[in-house]
Amino acid sequence: MRLAVISDTHGNAVAFEAVIRDLRRQSPDAVVFLGDLVMRGPQPAECLELLDSLNPLAVIKGNHDHYFAKYPDAAQWIPKTEKERMNLRQLLYNKQLLSEEQQRYLGCLPVKHLFREGDFQAELYHAAPDSLGKITWPWSLEEELDSLHTDSSTKMVLYGHIHHAYTRNAFGRQIVNCGSVGLPFDGDARASYAIVDIAQGQTAVQIRRIEYDIERVIRIAKERSMPDTDLFERAVRTARFAYSFKQPV
Ligand SMILES: [Fe+2]
Repeated sequence: MRLAVISDTHGNAVAFEAVIRDLRRQSPDAVVFLGDLVMRGPQPAECLELLDSLNPLAVIKGNHDHYFAKYPDAAQWIPKTEKERMNLRQLLYNKQLLSEEQQRYLGCLPVKHLFREGDFQAELYHAAPDSLGKITWPWSLEEELDSLHTDSSTKMVLYGHIHHAYTRNAFGRQIVNCGSVGLPFDGDARASYAIVDIAQGQTAVQIRRIEYDIERVIRIAKERSMPDTDLFERAVRTARFAYSFKQPV
């Protein structure tokens, strides 16, 4: 059984297309998506269509997808900080480009998935069992990694959210972060996803990094007058988090 694990496309369909080209060569038996399909990047509708074309086994909601559940009417959102203002600008941009049905789809996604193959069981989350936004770093204490599952028979945890790809062992359980397709923050600007092979209870994990046309997605963001394109450009070029705002407004 070969499982492809993808996450955090963030409206970057140029990166997503490059990942799909590589993924087809890997010929997985199933594809799972761990959330944050849209927001930050210029092509939300294209990302929904590309994900649909993969006929995914599971699609999980990320904190950015959750904005569509929290604010079905963006006018209800009164931003309190500069960062919230930016997120509201991005929500309005995404709402312009997504149908009502697509927005409902994002808002209603499940927050977890239990994957089973024979005796093998994996728990899938965007960030953590009890949170869409909790940050568990690759260098977190083993005890923190151990809080990412709820069932003792789980052998592997798969999550996204932090945009840092890694795999580690925590008290005999494998923790895998597949990284981000559209907006890596781990210093490697290539798109990231994971391939997990499962056979007779044994697993092998590959983190795959895929080159894509960064200039093209920046050009599309500019052509579409996407808000905060300068931050997106800095993030995709440097593969570092570019969305910090210190001053509350
Ligand atoms: Fe994300």
